[in-house]
Order: sequence, then structure tokens, then C-alpha cells
Amino acid sequence: QEDVFKTIVAHAKEYGFVFQSSEIYDGLSAVYDYGQNGVELKNNIKRYWWEAMTMLHDNIVGIDSAIFMHPTIWKASGHVDAFNDPLIDNKDSKKRYRADVLIEEEIAKFDDKIEKEVAKARKRFGESFDEAMFRQTNPRVLENQKKRDELHERFSVAMNANDLANLRQIILDYEIVDPISGTRNWTDVRQFNLMFKTEMGSTADGAMEVYLRPETAQGIFVNYLNVQKTGRMRIPFGIAQIGKAFRNEIVARQFIFRMREFEQMEMQFFVRPGEELKWFDKWRQTRLRWHKALGLGDEKYRFHDHEKLAHYANAATDIEFQMPFGFKEVEGIHSRTNFDLSQHEKFSGKKIQYFDPELNESYVPYVIETSIGVDRMFLSVLCSCYEDQQLEGGDHRVVLHFPAPLAPVKCAVLPLVKKDGLPEKAREIQHKLRFDFTCQVDEKDSIGKRYRRQDAIGTPYCITVDHQTLEDNTVTLRHRDSTEQERVNVDDLEKILAEKVSL
Ligand code: GAP
Repeated sequence: QEDVFKTIVAHAKEYGFVFQSSEIYDGLSAVYDYGQNGVELKNNIKRYWWEAMTMLHDNIVGIDSAIFMHPTIWKASGHVDAFNDPLIDNKDSKKRYRADVLIEEEIAKFDDKIEKEVAKARKRFGESFDEAMFRQTNPRVLENQKKRDELHERFSVAMNANDLANLRQIILDYEIVDPISGTRNWTDVRQFNLMFKTEMGSTADGAMEVYLRPETAQGIFVNYLNVQKTGRMRIPFGIAQIGKAFRNEIVARQFIFRMREFEQMEMQFFVRPGEELKWFDKWRQTRLRWHKALGLGDEKYRFHDHEKLAHYANAATDIEFQMPFGFKEVEGIHSRTNFDLSQHEKFSGKKIQYFDPELNESYVPYVIETSIGVDRMFLSVLCSCYEDQQLEGGDHRVVLHFPAPLAPVKCAVLPLVKKDGLPEKAREIQHKLRFDFTCQVDEKDSIGKRYRRQDAIGTPYCITVDHQTLEDNTVTLRHRDSTEQERVNVDDLEKILAEKVSL
């Protein structure tokens, strides 16, 4: 699976999806640029979310708030005081790590050992293998399970109490080593704030220290009154936003999974106090349905309900997706009570309330939040659509089976030869289609090579123009996944494509 992931990352670069930022200067860690195909896929993902949220709901509207905000907002939200990671340095290698991640990886090692035992036994016993029974009785599995649970328990206690000395003690007791240097000469664990700081203005009195926002949500909260009043919104209603967020992540690994500059798609849904858990449940289901509707495979999703909740939340769940490196969080759904709006009331001194005409009373609304990372969604789509397909005769092709509405290029028009008026006819067809669909003309190399190139960027349809086209105005329409070809009239192309590739 590690190798598959490496291959996918290399493919993403080779085909213009994702590049390391500042590559010619040796790169900037955990920052990435989207290339010519990546930006199209990313825009389509954002459109898929935006339209589902704003166009398909009467009571959800969008905004686009600024990245810079008044610094007191981050005091009110709790980010200045509590948006921290526990860090530990290795005194020998001078490398810095997140203490919690080091321990989580140690826990994962026990899980790996268990899964290896199970896989070995499955191979040995074949059809007759009773997995549940094996997990309950095999001594090696039980031993590892016991050690895993003990470590997990100690870790949870330390994290819940924010006990930094205890986190360090666990690292020492379990003899956890620096994953790069293999040594274990650790400093104390200390807190490190994840927000980036910069300065705004330069006056004689000095500049104001501001933060790059670590989430888009606060831009929604501080605009709650503006939108509610100007949009005459009635509770329950939602505000949606897509935008960049910045976190000075220490563990920067797994490609675009954990970045320092990334994009979020967040929606805050404002409800009556007391009705929040009903709405939490509704959004939990609605969001999972939205994911599954893409058709990447229902079995690739699971919920991870949180047992330990942030002090302001009364319910929280993650939607996890099966990445090549395991099930990982793609979206969080949180019932955030009235914490954020109340805090902004307190810190700004402005009344942030809703007068409910049905109840004839005013209150600070409760909030259900859905928060998904664009880049993580991009990664989940890329990884699950990638296939290195073996073909008859020993040949193979790499194909990205993107859902057609997300594909960067919807169709490619390919003149069979570069003469006899075929390229001109191809351009004519492209011109008919390009107002509605991203449509390329590709004339270079053999037709086989051109099909492979389009497969590798996930183009669902190739339209081949040949000599017959000039006679009867028909072309060959090749389907990416099945590689099947059919003869269709040029005048029908728009209709056929519209049916398949629209969101
Ligand atoms: N407003 C709530 C909030 O920001 P979060 O769980 O910290 O919650 C929400 O982030 C989503 O943003 C995550 O589920 C993930 O998809 C994405 N995300 C968070 N940190 C990220 C990072 N460093 N790189 C890429 N995506 C990230």
C-alpha cells in the first residue's frame, strides 16, 4: 500500500495534478501547488459541494469572508490559548515531533501486528477461516491487543488532562525512538501554537499583530448577524463558505493530507437551542449521502464518533475515508452549542441573538458545523480512482476512473491522422463543445498513445475523427472505463455528454 501511494503521488506530479511548492528552490515543506489538471479537479470538487449546499437548500446561503480578521476573534474562539500541539525535540538529531503522533504511531504498530497475524492465518486456512474466532482466541493477537489497549488508555488519560509530563513519560516508558535517527534522547514536551502570525500596517505606533485564519468557520460566526438580517434568514438556516486556512503543522507528511496552507468547505447551521442533536443527526446522514453519491464505493466510508468532546461541543463525528494509508478523517461534523456566538458576544460587546417569532423569545442560536478539507477530498478521489490495469497481451494502462462530473477534462477530440482535413474537423467539433465542457484537441502521437494519455488524466470520453466523419458526420466515442467504442453523430455529442458529465 505504501508503494501504491508513492506511485499515485508520482502520477499526480507527472500528469499536472499536484506539484511541490517552490520546487526549483528545493520546495517548501507541506505546501503544494495544483497544476493544470489538479486545479480543474479541485474546482469541480468545490462546485459539487457548493451547489449541493447553496442551490439545493432554500435555507443555506454562501459568503466569502477575508482571511485576515481582527485578532480578538482568535482570543474569543479559544485559538490563541488552546490551538496547540504538544511538541517534543530529539536532542541528538534536532528533529521536532508531535508527542501525540509519536504515541499514536506506536499504538498503530500494535494494530499492524494484529492485522499481520490475521492476514497470515487467513492465507493459511483459506475459505474455512473464522476471523472473529481467531481474533478472540489467538494468543499473539490477544497479547498485542492487551498492550495496545493499555497504551491507548494511558495516552487518553494524558491527552484529556493535557498532561505534558505524562506524555513524555509514556514516550520514555515505551522506548519510542526518533523515526528518522533511531535515537531517543528527548527534551520535555511543550505546547506550540499552530497559528501563523504576521503584521498589518506600519505606523509610528507600531503594527498590529494578526493571524492567518486556521479555519474559515470564524468568518461565518462574525458575519452571522449581517447575513441573518440582510438575508432575512429564519432559523434554522445555514451559511456556507469555501476558503483557505493555515496551520503551522509540525508533522507534515502524507502528501496533501496534512498541509500548512489548505482549503476548507465549511457550513454553520444555526438552530434553536434544544434542537441541535436532531439537526446533528440529520447533517451526519446528509453529509454521508453526499459523499456516497459520488460512487467511489460505499465501503470506503465510515463514521468515527468522538467519545471525548471539546468543552464546547455536545456531539462530534468524523467521516473517514479509506486512503492507501488507512481510514482517515476527511470531514468533521460538530454540534458546537452556542459557544462561538456567545464568545463573540462577550468579546465584542455586541448582542448576537435571534428573535424567534414562533417562540416569541430571543436566544443565541446553537450551531451544527460541517467542515471538510478540499485537499483531503481531492486526495481521496485521486487515490480511489487510480488503477494500474493489466490488459490482455501483457500490456497495461494507468487510468483514473474519476466520476465524470469531477474529471478535469470531459472530452478529447482526436483526429486519426494529421492531414486530409481531419484536424480542422476536430477543431470544429471542439468549438461546438467547449462552451459547455472542458474539451481538448490532441493530434500528437499514435491514437493508442493519445488514449493512454487521456486515461491517465481521467478523461471520460475520447472522440475520434476519421475519414468517415467527413462523409457522414459520425465519430467514434470511446468510453474511458470500458474502452468500448460506439459510432455516434456529431450533432448528438452535446446531448450525450451533458447527460453523463453534469453534476
Ligand atoms: N472548523 C472546524 C475545523 O476546522 P478541523 O477538524 O480542525 O475542524 C476540518 O478541520 C477539516 O479540515 C478536516 O476534516 C480536514 O479535512 C481539513 N484539515 C484540517 N487540517 C488540515 C491540514 N493541515 N491539511 C489539510 N486539510 C486539513
